[in-house]
Formats: sequence, structure tokens, C-alpha cells
Amino acid sequence: MKSIKGIVWAGVVSCLLLPFFSPKSSAAGANVNLPVDISMTFTKDPLTAKAFTWVTKNKTKSATVLEVWEANQPKVKVTGSSQMVTGRYAYFPIAKDMNAAKNLFTFDVHKAVVAGLKPNTKYFYRCGDGNAANWSQVGSFVTGNSSGDFSFLYMTDPQSASSSDFALWKATSEHAYAKYPDAKFFTVSGDLVDRGSSENLWDQFFRYGAKATTNLTIVPAIGNHETDTGPHHYSDHFNFPKNTAGLPDYVYSFDYGDAHFTVLSTEKTYAQLTSKDSAVRTAANHFVDQQIEMLRNEVAASHKKWNIVILHKALYSSGGYASSAETLYYRKKLAPVFDELSIDAVLQGHNHTFDRGFIYGGKTVSGVNANSTSVKKGKGTLYLVNDSAGPKFYNTTKGVDLSFLLKYGQPRKQMYTGVTVSQDSLIFKTFTVSKDGPDALYDTFAITK
Ligand SMILES: [Fe+2]
Repeated sequence: MKSIKGIVWAGVVSCLLLPFFSPKSSAAGANVNLPVDISMTFTKDPLTAKAFTWVTKNKTKSATVLEVWEANQPKVKVTGSSQMVTGRYAYFPIAKDMNAAKNLFTFDVHKAVVAGLKPNTKYFYRCGDGNAANWSQVGSFVTGNSSGDFSFLYMTDPQSASSSDFALWKATSEHAYAKYPDAKFFTVSGDLVDRGSSENLWDQFFRYGAKATTNLTIVPAIGNHETDTGPHHYSDHFNFPKNTAGLPDYVYSFDYGDAHFTVLSTEKTYAQLTSKDSAVRTAANHFVDQQIEMLRNEVAASHKKWNIVILHKALYSSGGYASSAETLYYRKKLAPVFDELSIDAVLQGHNHTFDRGFIYGGKTVSGVNANSTSVKKGKGTLYLVNDSAGPKFYNTTKGVDLSFLLKYGQPRKQMYTGVTVSQDSLIFKTFTVSKDGPDALYDTFAITK
């Protein structure tokens, strides 16, 4: 192991003291110093560094200590810092509690970055405050590789608000990880929880999804359910690369293998984007324009073969917001840029249907049809929505033009997609989750170059 340098930021707070890995654990008697809500995210350099976030529910600041090691090698300790966060909501169901000041609470958010790692190497980690009684369980990760084939997982909209909802997220994430045990990371394209300001929901998201979240890097995109009282509670839970100057941390990019990924925010609402208040309207539109400029610069500077965008509000979909004013705004604004930059794939959410189109200029690219299982990339971008990883399904919309989609449907089953990136192709395999038998392959599509 090379030398490891640590940097850390800060942390959050407490209340429901639900131990980390077991959804069956009771709040009673839990250790408030145990790390919960552990997430791993990419830094500016996925090959040699990894960023961590966790929460402790103690009411005063505690130490931030991360240990990282290769198999049969000594542990390397990284220290960091934490930050107390206050004013989050504790309970769900949320509706009756959202405005109750008595339900606000405080917790300690820990953030750390371990650097100096070897590329393409498996590491183990645990986090805590340095005391033997307060270590998390051991998780693992594999550092990035600058070349070579790899797979990653794409899921969207688990958007859970109850134990039964989260059980569906648990099943989807575990089935996805079991199907792609060598996946290098997983993306969730928004609406990870039903109310982002409810800390309890984040606890559940990480506890029920622990098999994936403790062993795979997460690449989240912000959704409207993460912005109910502002995006700060979302940023508390992830240590983002912070590599898009002038934009919030949850708009970010990274390279992995021969692909460049950009995660955008579509969370300025149509009301903001068209507000009669010119200051609101100007700021909202500026935020979208800034992201477009960033994307143009990123793609121009990238030498990677593949360009993939991840965002929440689907530009092309049959689902709940198929032709809403907001959808049409973002389609008009972003789709021509994706055409111009020849983005290969856009992984979307929000609409809770399955939708796949291969589109240029607002239309299906000529020569591709509903029977096509692959396309040789010329002009055009794959737009995908893989329904929901949780409880909510929308009906496909009737009476609107959906001719830009090659396939759409509502099987009312949770979905996940394995994406395999290689020198010559991007292969997307979408599965529906089965309780009793093997998961069914619902859709497959490939782009070749
Ligand atoms: Fe949404």
C-alpha cells in the first residue's frame, strides 16, 4: 500500500438510534457513537482515492477516524473532522410531523477522504471515533481502473417512506448486487428517499441498502424528493468530488475506465424557471445554463470514448410527467446540447415507468426501430428510465406522442440495470426483481462504436 493521506470534513446528528447493518435492530439501547448512514463516493481521482461520509447520533462532536487496508496488510488510519448539523426532521410518516419543531434534532456528520491508494485494488475499511467499541462493521471497495471493461449498476427512485417500502429497496439493491457482484459502483438517479429532510428516512435508506452501500461506491443524482426543504440534507450524506466550480457539490463528474460521467441537477422547478419574480427566474435559468456550460467544457476536455449523463427528471418518458411543462422545458434546454455533444446515454428517473429511446433532434434515429437490440453509434443518444427501485409505479401516459420511444411499459415490478462498458460497446441489461425465482431480463440494448 502506498502512503495514505486523509482529509476529512464533517458531520451530523442523532435521534433514532438504529444500528447499522440490520433492519431488524431495535432503537432501544443502541450505541449513539456507532457510525450509521455510511456512504462511499468518488473523489476527483477514483483510481487512487475514496471519499466517505457517516453519521453518529451523539449530541456532541466526536472524532472521525477511518481505517483502510489491503488483505493481510496493516491498517492505515486516516483522521478527519465532523460537523454538527441541526434542524432535521426525525420521524415518519412525515406529513403530520414535518412542521413540528419538537421533531427537529441534531446529529454529527463525518466526512473523510483516503488518498494514495493503488488503482484496481480491493481494500477493506471501517470507520468510527477510534474507540474499540465504536467501529462500524467492515466494508470493502475496489479502486478504479483507467482502462479495461467494467460494469456498473443503475437504479432509480426507491423513494421510500415506510418499512415495507424500504424492504423493496433492500430487495432491488441486493438482487442487483447479486446479479453484478463485480459492479464497480451504482448510481441512483434521484428520489432516494421520500422526504430528504427526514433523517430517519436516510437511516432506513442506508440500513436496508447496506449490502450495496457498504461495498459499492454510490453515484447519486439529486431528485425533487431530496429538495423538500433545500438540498443541504442531501449533501450531508455524500462527500462529493467538488469539481464543478461555481456549482453545488451535487453537480459533479468523474472518469471511470474509458467513460466520463456527469451528474446534473434538474431540480429547479418550472415555477422557478418561469417565475414572475425576475430574480428567481434569472437565478433558476442561470443554474441550468451553468450546468450546460460545465458539460460542454467537460466533454471538450475529456479523452474518454464514452460520455454518460445522469439526471433525475426524464427528458423522454411515457410516465407520470411525460409531457409536463417542466419536462418540455428541460427537453428543449438539454436535449439539443446532448445532441451537440453526442452524449451516448442519459440515465434518468422521476417518471416511474420503463422507457427507452434512441433519439436525435427529438426523434428516433433513422434505421433504429422497436426490434433493434443494438445500434452503431452515429448521431443519437440512448435515453433510459428503469421504472422504480421502490414502491411507486406510474401508468404510461395515453393521448400524447411517444413516438420517440422504442420501448415503454409498466410491468409493476422493481427494476435494476447492469451497464457494461467496454472498448467497443455499452450494453444495458434491465431486470425485473422476482421474489420467488430468478430475476427476469426485461430489456437489453447495446450501443457500439
Ligand atoms: Fe421525482
